[in-house]
Amino acid sequence: MSIPTFGVGTFRLTGQTVIDSVRTALELGYRAVDTAQIYGNEAEVGQAIADSGVKRDELFVTTKIWTANYAKDKLVPSLRESLEKLRTPYVDLTLIHWPAPGHGVELSEYMTALAEAKALGLTRQIGISNFNIALTKQAIAVVGKNEIATNQIELSPYLQGEKLTAFLKEQGITVTSYMTLAYGKVLKDPVLAQIAGKHQATVAQVALAWALQLGYAVIPSSTRRENLASNLLARDLHLDAADMAKIAALERNGREVNPAGLAPVWD
Ligand SMILES: NC(=O)c1ccc[n+]([C@@H]2O[C@H](COP(=O)([O-])OP(=O)(O)OC[C@H]3O[C@@H](n4cnc5c(N)ncnc54)[C@H](OP(=O)(O)O)[C@@H]3O)[C@@H](O)[C@H]2O)c1
Repeated sequence: MSIPTFGVGTFRLTGQTVIDSVRTALELGYRAVDTAQIYGNEAEVGQAIADSGVKRDELFVTTKIWTANYAKDKLVPSLRESLEKLRTPYVDLTLIHWPAPGHGVELSEYMTALAEAKALGLTRQIGISNFNIALTKQAIAVVGKNEIATNQIELSPYLQGEKLTAFLKEQGITVTSYMTLAYGKVLKDPVLAQIAGKHQATVAQVALAWALQLGYAVIPSSTRRENLASNLLARDLHLDAADMAKIAALERNGREVNPAGLAPVWD
């Protein structure tokens, strides 16, 4: 199993904005797109993909199941609806969006339903998002660690998730960093700016290259062509050990996303 290291995110983007963003990303060479049922943009993402003319087998499409669809009789039908909107017979990766402890559906029920979606061929791979170590262990106990392609979690130079990422690495579960730019906050950081200056790179490229060098997949979003283009060039930036050490020191538990009732107790 493998997942692409660089994709484009679509959170908060709807209507023509998301169509333009995904279309531009595909024109620029992105081949992985991250959406979710709750983003309310799967149909527009599907339209942008269809308009792009990029062949389905060259693309990697990820969606996420929303909490309202976790029950065993809802998960698979909801994914079928997502596929219709996305205009595809399968997605490459389907994630449980939030562990939502105490939300009424047991983890074992939704993980089993997710595995069933894979067995039905609706999704090539399955994974989790926003799971802490304890919940990841529970998910592994239900479906097996080799079945979990990724845990997509908030990670940025300000929130480095040391314990969780070490655990995931040990389990062979790919880490996907979302909000690697901390929704733009890290872009003003003077240390990152200094490193960017040294490499004649942008600050966003430095943050993304940091995550890539740690072995994480990234899915930065942008509504601007120039940002989509320059972010992708982070793949060519090599940070040295001194740069990586300076970025490691920026950790400040800077979590941006922590919705009550959905988020676990973080490690
Ligand atoms: N699993 C989950 O629970 C979860 C939660 C949140 C996000 N995600 C996924 O992760 C993706 C990424 O997160 P995100 O979109 O919230 O945040 P992000 O990628 O950290 O940041 C996006 C913001 O940064 C700006 N930006 C992007 N590239 C830039 C650049 N080169 N220079 C300056 N500004 C730049 C964008 O503005 P412009 O449009 O002006 O470029 C936008 O405001 C989401 O789209 C979504 O797919 C998943």
